[in-house]
Amino acid sequence: MVSKPAARDRLIVALDLPDVAAAEKMAAQLGDSVAFYKIGLELTYGGGLGLARDLAQAGKKVFLDLKLHDIPHTVARATTQVADMGATFLTVHAYPQTMRAARGALGGSSLKILGVTVLTSCDDSDLAEAGFAFGVKDLVARRALQAARAGVQGLVLSAEEAQAMRALVGPHMLLVTPGIRLAGGVVGDQKRVMTPARAIAAGADYLVVGRPVTQAPDPRAAAEAFVAEIAGAG
Ligand code: C5P
Repeated sequence: MVSKPAARDRLIVALDLPDVAAAEKMAAQLGDSVAFYKIGLELTYGGGLGLARDLAQAGKKVFLDLKLHDIPHTVARATTQVADMGATFLTVHAYPQTMRAARGALGGSSLKILGVTVLTSCDDSDLAEAGFAFGVKDLVARRALQAARAGVQGLVLSAEEAQAMRALVGPHMLLVTPGIRLAGGVVGDQKRVMTPARAIAAGADYLVVGRPVTQAPDPRAAAEAFVAEIAGAG
């Protein structure tokens, strides 16, 4: 049995907000209710790397969702920079060469690499158009196994894929799942959603939640509701 982190550490709140000022305000409002934040490309290019550093220095965990993919030398150097910032998770596209480069650059840091197998915006025809000989299902499985072989520590995937993926990659790979909603919550543009309890039961280690917390009338209460459900499920 692999031991799981505390419930509060398993909730990752996506700071998908237009600018750093709004993200800082949200983090201040959430206070101790949230221990782990995800910063994506939009906020990163809007000055979010400074915020990532500040959050890490304030004792928060930071997931930099940068989806790196470049020549190995560049991926390795970028990974080192992210590790030096004190981030906890970094995403890379799950190409074997890219994953090996990021994994090899971790040194003694506590940064963990998460592979993004196939973007959920891609279907079989998108992959064919891009020149791949595999459909989504086969490419996800192939890349998940390659991630395990490359020694990356985790995968980002929909909660619906978690159970099958867990069977494929074993108990030690961290499974990080977005598309999480409390029962009866607003789904928004997510096509497939799962409750925290069901995602945990399916094998998810960490849950990424954005709008249900950041757009709630009381974000702190919303975060506490997610933590409580994770605690009850874990
Ligand atoms: O607001 P919501 O809870 O839907 O946000 C989910 C977060 O997870 C967003 O930052 C989104 O970009 C990210 N994500 C996702 N689906 C994926 C990968 C990432 O929703 N397949």
